[in-house]
Amino acid sequence: MRKRDIERFLSGDVRDTESLDELPDEVDAPVRAGMRRNRGGEPGPRTRGRLTEEARARLVLEREAVAVDDGPPQGDRWSSWGDAEEAGPRPHPSWVVTELAAVDTELGVIKTGKEADVFLVERAVPGADRSCLMAAKRYRGGDHRLFHRDAGYLEGRRVRDSREMRAMQRRSDFGRNLIAQQWAVAEFAALRELWAIGAPVPYPVQRIGTELLLEFIGDAEGTAAPRLVQLRPGLQELADLWQQLIEAMVTLARRGHTHGDLSAYNLLVHDGELLLIDLPQVVDIVSNPRGREFLERDVRAACTWFVSRGLPADTADPEAVAELLLREAGLS
Ligand SMILES: Nc1ncnc2c1ncn2[C@@H]1O[C@H](COP(=O)(O)OP(=O)(O)OP(=O)(O)O)[C@@H](O)[C@H]1O
Ligand SMILES: [Mg+2]
Repeated sequence: MRKRDIERFLSGDVRDTESLDELPDEVDAPVRAGMRRNRGGEPGPRTRGRLTEEARARLVLEREAVAVDDGPPQGDRWSSWGDAEEAGPRPHPSWVVTELAAVDTELGVIKTGKEADVFLVERAVPGADRSCLMAAKRYRGGDHRLFHRDAGYLEGRRVRDSREMRAMQRRSDFGRNLIAQQWAVAEFAALRELWAIGAPVPYPVQRIGTELLLEFIGDAEGTAAPRLVQLRPGLQELADLWQQLIEAMVTLARRGHTHGDLSAYNLLVHDGELLLIDLPQVVDIVSNPRGREFLERDVRAACTWFVSRGLPADTADPEAVAELLLREAGLS
């Protein structure tokens, strides 16, 4: 999905976020109103992800008023909000700190992964009662590991600049960095779209290069929500989580999507609420020739886990679930 965005990225046109800003219009007010927690639907400040000259000049003045030297008064770096190549769907939820005088502080590692590392970042306005926690997911470009999802992904794609295509195929440092950026672009686009249709995913705050800043799923002290695989839910909770997963999969299927790498590792549970994460490879089940296969694999993975934890096999029946999703996608 979102090939258009990736192609734009490859043609060096990533800074133009105009067409992405169209997405929020697709959101029904009732869908938004039904959204959970702090994403209640109230519009946040109408700050764009990119700065006009005027805004930049204002920012300089604001920052000068906070500190006389060059660095932020505390923390690691000035908020990178104004430099974002892409920002999340609007209206931004009110918890998103958009003040340009805010400071980003890295608080630690949430998890290092095979393809990306995830860090906890606080964005706060010095001297004001205004802060939010975010998960910074940074795709790795420079190491020697291959992306396990690359194989089918690069295949058959037309990339305008063949030098870039060759670099990616050779996996040179430059090529690896391009691949990492493609994954970041793809995941951000997927999260934007899914969040906008009310799917349970973290709100995507911004993307710069290979780094995504996402809504932090966890408590106010910075403890991340457990992955589903870490839980030992009782039968009632298990049935409830299953119900939430089916609803999430139906929401995706209605838009013609399946997660593409669904497992109990890519689901977080926060206060009893299930969220889908790790979405760069979201599959378009209609246009992808292997779409049905990916959907069936996701369904099997989900059913296997839930049945292994005690959900009745006739509730989590892969055939019935796949049939339901294909019907919702208009494919049967
Ligand atoms: N928004 C978030 N809020 C809290 N924790 C998160 C968030 N996003 C990711 N994490 C944590 O970071 C881990 C890795 O994230 P993710 O699955 O997106 O990346 P990955 O590169 O696929 O990692 P892995 O190889 O471990 O699956 C997750 O399992 C989860 O524990
Ligand atoms: Mg993962």
